[in-house]
Amino acid sequence: MSGTRVAVYPGSFDPITRGHEDLIRRSLAFADRVIVAVAVNPAKQPLFTLEERVALIREAVTERGVEVRSFDGLLVDFARGIDATLIVRGLRAVSDFEYEFQMALMNRTLAHEVETVFLVPAFDLTYLSSSLVREVARFGGDVSALVHPAVRQALARKFGR
Ligand code: PNS
Repeated sequence: MSGTRVAVYPGSFDPITRGHEDLIRRSLAFADRVIVAVAVNPAKQPLFTLEERVALIREAVTERGVEVRSFDGLLVDFARGIDATLIVRGLRAVSDFEYEFQMALMNRTLAHEVETVFLVPAFDLTYLSSSLVREVARFGGDVSALVHPAVRQALARKFGR
């Protein structure tokens, strides 16, 4: 569709957190369609299967204009395939910067027509990460303020609670 601004928001989403949800909703301020792209990422051993991660995002984010897909291979190839001109990534802290900068420059080298935009999450979600959520849930901590209820239930089932 011409004139439609498409943004891709890639990640592992293992699982989606309130921080990811916040960035997806913020992206709708400047994109007509936001494609949440869940990486197969064979290098990582995710807690949730690809299908589970996709299903949880669909439960957590139901806004119009948001679609959830999975992808394998290079992000820029996926972005080109869906006519995305923007890659959205979140920057939480200085510690994120080097990796994100490296990735943005590499993606630009591979596809100069695709621009990376960094979004700052809501202040109270800045410290949040999927790995912390998994760790807290693994040891029985309360994650209800950090994830959608469907994700909280899925974590409880994974850890046999
Ligand atoms: O949430 P994550 O794990 O930080 O997301 C990383 C992700 C999936 C965005 C990144 O690993 C990625 O883009 N993988 C796809 C392969 C690729 O394109 N690699 C080159 C990026 S420079």
